[in-house]
Amino acid sequence: MGIWRYDAGVVRRQDAYTTEPVQPMGVQMGELRGTHVPVLLERCLELLAPALGRGGRTVHVDATLGLAGHAEAVLAAHPETVLIGLDRDTEALAHARVRLARFADRVHLEHAVYDELPEVLDRLGYPTIDGILFDLGVSSLQLDAPDRGFAYAQDAPLDMRMDQTRGTTAEEVVNTYGHPELTRLLRVYGEEKFAGRIASAIIRERERVRITSSARLAELVRDAIPAPARRTGGHPAKRTFQALRIEVNRELAALETALPAALDKLDVGGRMVVLSYHSLEDRLTKQALADRVRSKGPIDLPVELPGTGPTFRLLSRGAELPGEGEVAANPRAASVRLRAAERLDPNVAQQGRTDRERYRRRVKGMHQPGTTAGGSGRDPQRSVRDGTDEEGEGT
Ligand SMILES: C[S@@+](CC[C@H](N)C(=O)[O-])C[C@H]1O[C@@H](n2cnc3c(N)ncnc32)[C@H](O)[C@@H]1O
Repeated sequence: MGIWRYDAGVVRRQDAYTTEPVQPMGVQMGELRGTHVPVLLERCLELLAPALGRGGRTVHVDATLGLAGHAEAVLAAHPETVLIGLDRDTEALAHARVRLARFADRVHLEHAVYDELPEVLDRLGYPTIDGILFDLGVSSLQLDAPDRGFAYAQDAPLDMRMDQTRGTTAEEVVNTYGHPELTRLLRVYGEEKFAGRIASAIIRERERVRITSSARLAELVRDAIPAPARRTGGHPAKRTFQALRIEVNRELAALETALPAALDKLDVGGRMVVLSYHSLEDRLTKQALADRVRSKGPIDLPVELPGTGPTFRLLSRGAELPGEGEVAANPRAASVRLRAAERLDPNVAQQGRTDRERYRRRVKGMHQPGTTAGGSGRDPQRSVRDGTDEEGEGT
């Protein structure tokens, strides 16, 4: 872990205990800038703007810095904002620090897993933050790198670690886990219907020869899936590769810890935006937010008891999906789900769509002629896009 600093174009890494210059890595950015398009960029900027642009110095955390596309746009839009960028991938950090060099005097780049955010903030001396973005999953750098093993479409050693300096590789997982463990992880993390068959195929193959390449694994998975099922749901190995990536990087455990910790660090008026790419991430995000936006007091009381009111309000209605234009311009945006929330001022009574207000409207609706008892009374124009019962307030 360390803070990346920029001195006269040379990147230096300052560890918690020592100050040691690190080799500039000679990163060529031209090619990457061309291929990387930050997902839902305009919407993220719009959601973060009221928190970051409210005057004076504000602090934004990019918890998944990647190639710094979102971070660069935030820094350009908010000249007073300090950015703390985290990534567990040292290669991503090397690219990001070149891309952000012109903002060096207000950027801290940290090699860290995002569940380490509270310690990072303590060390840097920021007790609270104003904005935070989680753009989950793998970066285009990781997917496209021929030697990282994330992509089923190209042959590479089975690595899949986002942080190549530590941890277990996908090769170790597929060659050492027992049948029940493999089946469980494929079923839970990959939502793979044929988990048992794929696990059996992996075990049969590794008894013959160690499985070391992504192409061989993709082939095994394809052969293990019944032919009619291969024709639906994208590439047959997609779910297996997702499951292995989640396991290797302990992605869900880190996210489950990181989201509440990040919400705790947001100042009043501070905003969090999360971009998820599969249902497991989105579910964890939804749960973390739901816990903060609901009243903890008795719902049938006319007023909120002190300390029981919601601490956040939703800014998104359910999970926001990308528009067709976004997906056409950036196919990696196809599976994105956006959720966002803002910390409320505990001293200001909340108006409108709180649980209590919704309850009152529902009870009132039950007593009005022509309405069905128990009807939601919800305005159909504001119904959510993913069928959940959440309602955002918009921005
Ligand atoms: C989708 S990319 C982010 C792209 C970025 N928003 C941009 O505009 O370039 C996700 C990044 O998050 C990093 N990452 C994933 N899980 C992480 C974790 N638990 N802690 C820190 N970084 C993580 C990955 O290494 C990857 O670089």
